[in-house]
Amino acid sequence: MKFCVDTNEKNSWYIGTNDYGSKMINKFETVMFQGNGYMGMRAVAEEKQLHEQRDMFISGTFDAFPNEVTELPNLPDLINLEIKVDGQPLCLKDGYVENYHKSLNLKNGELTRTFDWIINNKAVHFNYRRFISMYDKHLFVSQVEVSSAQDELNVQLSSGIDGRQSNDESQHLMEGDKRLYDGQYIQMQAETQQSHIDFVFNVRHKIYVDEVLLSDKPYINMSRRQIFGNYNVDLQAGQTLTFIKYANVYTSIDQDADPNKLTDDSVAALKRASLSNYNESLQKSDRVWNHNIWQKNYVQIDSEDEKPQVAINFARYQLAANTPLDPRMNIGAKGITGEGYKGHTFWDTEIFMLPYYTFTMPDVAKNLLTYRYLGLQGAHKKAQGNNYQGAQFPWEAADPTDGETAPLWGSADIVTGKPMKIWSGFIEQHVTSDIVIAIMDYLHATGDQVFADDMGYEIILDAAKFWSSRLEYNEEQDVYEINDVIGPDEYKEHADNNAFTNYTAQWCIQKAIKVYNLIKEENPELYLKLSNKLNLETTYESWINQVNRIYVPQPNIEGVIPEDDQYLSLKNVDVSKFQVNDQISTIFKTYNLSQINQMQITKQADVLLLIYLFENMFDDNIKQSNWNYYEPRTTHDSSLSQSIHSILASDLGLNDEAYKFYEMSCETDLGIHIGKAIRGLHMAACGGLWNMTVEGFGGVRIDNGKLRIEPHLPASWNSLKYQINWQGSTVRVGIDGEKMFVQVIGDGIEFVSYGREYQVPANGSLEIELPVEETVTD
Ligand code: BGC
Repeated sequence: MKFCVDTNEKNSWYIGTNDYGSKMINKFETVMFQGNGYMGMRAVAEEKQLHEQRDMFISGTFDAFPNEVTELPNLPDLINLEIKVDGQPLCLKDGYVENYHKSLNLKNGELTRTFDWIINNKAVHFNYRRFISMYDKHLFVSQVEVSSAQDELNVQLSSGIDGRQSNDESQHLMEGDKRLYDGQYIQMQAETQQSHIDFVFNVRHKIYVDEVLLSDKPYINMSRRQIFGNYNVDLQAGQTLTFIKYANVYTSIDQDADPNKLTDDSVAALKRASLSNYNESLQKSDRVWNHNIWQKNYVQIDSEDEKPQVAINFARYQLAANTPLDPRMNIGAKGITGEGYKGHTFWDTEIFMLPYYTFTMPDVAKNLLTYRYLGLQGAHKKAQGNNYQGAQFPWEAADPTDGETAPLWGSADIVTGKPMKIWSGFIEQHVTSDIVIAIMDYLHATGDQVFADDMGYEIILDAAKFWSSRLEYNEEQDVYEINDVIGPDEYKEHADNNAFTNYTAQWCIQKAIKVYNLIKEENPELYLKLSNKLNLETTYESWINQVNRIYVPQPNIEGVIPEDDQYLSLKNVDVSKFQVNDQISTIFKTYNLSQINQMQITKQADVLLLIYLFENMFDDNIKQSNWNYYEPRTTHDSSLSQSIHSILASDLGLNDEAYKFYEMSCETDLGIHIGKAIRGLHMAACGGLWNMTVEGFGGVRIDNGKLRIEPHLPASWNSLKYQINWQGSTVRVGIDGEKMFVQVIGDGIEFVSYGREYQVPANGSLEIELPVEETVTD
């Protein structure tokens, strides 16, 4: 595996680089992103740099321009700090730089940058540190130390709030008041122009020379969208200047703030926060990282190479840094790490990220699913707009009540030069089933009956109501079809009877029938409520009438499940030349989308995803035949592809393939390709990393509602240990080549492994011999 960042054999929480003038500038900004789920900042330098992409977002604060879809506004910058030494602005392109080093501590999210800047024959040492607090979600703290061992220095600092940020030049914020409170607190107010969300940003500085506090009353500089405090300090040789910046942000949609008192309350909060010094503030945040995240889940990989452990730590760090803990919000496909996909949420959450949360932090999983419950209103809007019934969930979601937020137009077609229409918002419909899949997994793993009664069952019933209205009756064959869709493979637009879509739609209706009967029998009150709300009696009749006549494509004579009605008769091409992991979507250099639509080229796991999710429906021969057929036809142009292939390969005993796809997936963001991750991380790949490790190699799966653990340890790993949660109990699993150790904290659990059922008593443990694995070689 090749990473763009350096790793450290002794510390798997470390990623860093000594490279400062690099072409990788935007990639490093993304990979070393800092966030706490509420607020997120790219890892730009404090001083402005050419080609940087300076972004800061607050989850859920969507805003739209006329005729454009809603997006997360890029907020006023708080990181900025311009320094002049003897009048010379700090710029790493001037003078010489020695001992440059930038690193991110994945355990507590602290970013550090140190270097010596040799300018005008003086060597000046800089030591930057900063973090976004997990303890106080509104708080950002940064510190720089400046010193020179040999020389006197005059240091000028200018730091504050810079509102000249935009989303690709679109400015979402209307400027509000700017002021200085108590001579020390710099404040800027702003409001989004369409959604009218108010923001208040505050900054306070403290300056020390050799730990002696100087007056922190700045000379203020205010101009359009800017307010900065300026300071001027003379340093003797050997003295150290320490400059601390405390900043916070509040918005009128914060759950923990009074929208009418934002300006005063936020300043009061910053006053309190700035009573602690940098290290004290960091420790408070550190403790929350440990307590709320690392103690709830661990994954320990013992292998010669430290990269697998770094990769899983990176993935879990990024998931924590990008997951809002407010049910009105969800995780964007790129989190809050960049402007890509505008902060929108996709099925990426349900299929790729929720397994991690369901198995390790069920309360977070519940929040993320509650978001979909709050989204029923938007889903009804979408269904009605398309003349369907029930809940048709949006392909791209922002504020849950918005409904569909997918843009209409994408990048230019290489053949026609015209923008390509984005069809996903209209016809990529499987997301509605994906949400039901995630709900069922959550219910099995947690047994959370309260969620089921309050929200889960209603979503399932409403989703099935949509599918029932979506089905098209084919009189000739007496079957129900679903035509003109995009399945998970986005290289096939306007496909008829996409296998994934049809199977999951049928499965959704089957689940709804079960839920209907269950609540009717066991919870008449709930039944009455939902029956009235969703008009269940008539809907149920349709389900019963339709469910067994939904057309689900069957394997052909070679065992291949047709991806859709057209796929198997399309032209075959050699896809191997497009299966390159160091570039993205190279296929578009040769063909346009309409041409690809006419060829057996698959973007990402589609039939294979179906097989992974519904493994019990297909036997091993069918699984293998479909693997043999579809993998060579898949470009893996979506980062959602590799993890599914790795897990399925593990299941099929294709251990080398499983590891190959695992490595490819680890390289999605951390790899050396410059183009990937520029506009943000691939959050689904982060989720996928946990899935490959714990579900694929660790063998954890929900099988007919039961826990199954059938590990496939990679040959290069000595052992794997992880912790999951099953129905309220903590389950610790340790696997080496021959044995598996399962320890339970809490109530006893049952699980299945290689056809045998095991029981672990309350607070007990057991060890089992693992069967010797047969490795299938191609
Ligand atoms: C993939 C989709 C995915 C989206 C956001 C696309 O490239 O094909 O499946 O939901 O990216 O990650």
